Amino acid sequence: MQSKSPAKRTVSPSNEQHPPLEASQSKKLTRWATWASLVVVFALVCRVLDTIKDRWYIMDPPFLHELAKDAIATYPGDTTNVINHIVTNLTATYGTKHINTRQEEWVFNNAGGAMGAMYVIHASITEYLIIFGTPLGTEGHTGRHTADNYFHILEGEEWAYAPPSLKKEVYGPGSVHHLHRGQVKQYKMHENCFALEYCRGWIPPMLPFGFADCLTSTFDIPTLWRTTYITAREMIRNLLVGKI
Ligand SMILES: *[C@@H]1O[C@H](CO)[C@@H](O)[C@H](O)[C@H]1NC(C)=O
Repeated sequence: MQSKSPAKRTVSPSNEQHPPLEASQSKKLTRWATWASLVVVFALVCRVLDTIKDRWYIMDPPFLHELAKDAIATYPGDTTNVINHIVTNLTATYGTKHINTRQEEWVFNNAGGAMGAMYVIHASITEYLIIFGTPLGTEGHTGRHTADNYFHILEGEEWAYAPPSLKKEVYGPGSVHHLHRGQVKQYKMHENCFALEYCRGWIPPMLPFGFADCLTSTFDIPTLWRTTYITAREMIRNLLVGKI
């Protein structure tokens, strides 16, 4: 006896209700269009903000360069006093509401493979000013950033390099290395090198670069916490007095 009846195979008209094909497609299209418009609006807002970001800057490169040169000339070879001279002047010029005067507040910083220590003098959404350096020397990738970087050498030498030029760039005390927004280089701070680093542009997108080495390599959580705490404290302090 045959167990399969040919009739069974044909008893399968489904009772499921499929929504009409056009309706589900137009729903998908609406969702896609909504996301696309949000992306376009976000891009436009970013573009407009980018054209007006200059109005939020309080510091400027020529002034900082003068100040760095002045400090080096007053205290040659004495970086502790050079830093004190710079911070004293900045406090007189901009006030404690924008300047962090805790000169002992150093944190280690690992980024782009380089290691040094930094003291955050100012941090806001569109600017930061730090002392960065190490007596031991270090070398790494500058990172590709959404801000212009002005590296004022206070002591020692910074070397930099970017092909197609095959020559080493050398920056000594009193000189400034301007790394343009979006530009990248390999850099090395030779022994006993400290710099006044000023950055202007969009600072928050740079922060992941500053945290990546800790999260993938050093796992120095107390340093990560202190860095986050100091940066957030300074940014919020500035926001509260209307400094973006
Ligand atoms: C700060 O330094 C600049 C540049 O060296 C100088 O012109 C200015 O007078 C200084 N300001 C104060 C308050 O010392």
